[in-house]
Amino acid sequence: MATSIFCCLLLLFFLSRVTSSDQGNAYLISSQIISRATAEKQSHFRFYFHDIVSGPNPTAITVTEAPGTNTSATIFGLIVMIDDLLTTGPEAKSRSVGRAQGYYASAEIEKMGLLMAMNFVFTDGKYNGSTIAILGHNEVLSPVREMPIVGGSGLFRFARGYVQARTLSMDQNTHDAIVEYNIFVNHY
Ligand SMILES: *[C@@H]1O[C@H](CO)[C@@H](O)[C@H](O)[C@H]1NC(C)=O
Ligand SMILES: *[C@@H]1O[C@H](CO)[C@@H](O)[C@H](O)[C@H]1NC(C)=O
Repeated sequence: MATSIFCCLLLLFFLSRVTSSDQGNAYLISSQIISRATAEKQSHFRFYFHDIVSGPNPTAITVTEAPGTNTSATIFGLIVMIDDLLTTGPEAKSRSVGRAQGYYASAEIEKMGLLMAMNFVFTDGKYNGSTIAILGHNEVLSPVREMPIVGGSGLFRFARGYVQARTLSMDQNTHDAIVEYNIFVNHY
């Protein structure tokens, strides 16, 4: 009697193990402790973002707006797609490091506040082909705006951190702008 109960319990134990491992691991390929010695770096980059909305070759184009956008003090509802040049210096002719690709959208009714959703796509040197993803709130009229780094690829796998944006110049007629970006990114 005792033996059969014991066998029963043993069988249940194995069955439950098999079932739970089958369900839990159906799509998990591997999961292991990684070395505590893996060094996480923090890199600081500085480059300049050229938001060209005017002229024959704009790199920032309006893709949509709401019926009230043109009468809104904060251009609420405007969405602008960008493929903006990133350079090492404030001059557009300085060395190119990559592009800022994505969009910004006016997301605030009361004040000027943009939603920025973009990737910094590097095309120069060691970081060529790697990307950093930014998703954040940008109060464009403030001197310094901070936005989160939400991820990355290539040399920026597992990236986290933040960026600080400062408008260096904004042409009152064309609205073309140059923005300094300081990027503080943790990666491996
Ligand atoms: C705003 O846009 C709407 C729709 O495109 C247009 O009918 C209207 O004339 C525009 N208003 C102004 C003030 O530009
Ligand atoms: C960046 O990588 C691409 C693709 O591998 C290559 O064609 C290009 O020449 C590289 N650019 C630089 C500046 O290294």
